[in-house]
Amino acid sequence: MTIIDGKKLSEQIKTELAREVAAIRDSGGKVPHLAAVLVGEDPASQVYVRNKVRSCEEAGFKSTLVRKDVGITEVELLEVVNHLNDDDDIDGFIVQLPLPKHINEEHITLAIDPKKDVDGFHPVNFGRMALGLPTYLPATPFGIVTMLERYGVETAGKHAVVIGRSNIVGTPMAILLSRKGRVGDCTVTLVHSRTRNLPEFVRQADIIVAAIGKPEFVTADMVKEGAVVIDVGINRVDDPAAPRGFRLVGDVAYGEVAPKCSFITPVPGGVGPMTVMSLLMNTLKASKKEIYGA
Ligand code: GUN
Repeated sequence: MTIIDGKKLSEQIKTELAREVAAIRDSGGKVPHLAAVLVGEDPASQVYVRNKVRSCEEAGFKSTLVRKDVGITEVELLEVVNHLNDDDDIDGFIVQLPLPKHINEEHITLAIDPKKDVDGFHPVNFGRMALGLPTYLPATPFGIVTMLERYGVETAGKHAVVIGRSNIVGTPMAILLSRKGRVGDCTVTLVHSRTRNLPEFVRQADIIVAAIGKPEFVTADMVKEGAVVIDVGINRVDDPAAPRGFRLVGDVAYGEVAPKCSFITPVPGGVGPMTVMSLLMNTLKASKKEIYGA
């Protein structure tokens, strides 16, 4: 059984990115510049955005944090987006989700210039992904694909079962695994909250991607011997013995599932750290105009 160490791999990728950015800077090229828009004080969002900005700095990128009060109107936030669209120094930007209830997230996502949409959430970029055209892949699926690639996990002809159909993880993951390519060529089953006999499908999987947000949902009896298990969940469960009163667990019951696996990602230290690196990889692509040209 091999533990896929997302923390170590993300550090390695950060070093590779830092080396490339240093070479660009030394030859007089443009240093990649990511902007992040954070609305309000949501504690989890603050942590995520802080991690993104810190990782940028560590890799030698420029970063700009745009903080807005929770009371900002949709029209005002659209102005912020338009300003970032027009700012030639900004290569890519993200608007951290979730947004306050009075702002329609779809309106904001649609307003972002696809060329600068390093989250890969705009329908143009999502559509390009579905068609297999060059695009910015959404951070979590991109991180998972990178882990499978770097650990040499064979995917061709395998049966992948993706649990969960969210727009940012399950659905794009199912599309990517089914497409032609080094990490792809799978037979894919997408199961979700309305699937009948869900464990029966999961038991048939060579590769399981668990992204349903239910703590320790995937148990040993659902996992075939030798399966590859990718755990996207980050769930807080109460634990009076833990220093903060809770601990983080994935969507997989790691202790009982790990012994059956050929590869497994831990929580924390698996998929999570890879997502920020995906964002930086997309920002570098944006600054090099790799997807859309000059
Ligand atoms: N909220 C949770 N995940 C994400 C993400 O990948 N991008 C943005 N913009 N917001 C998020």
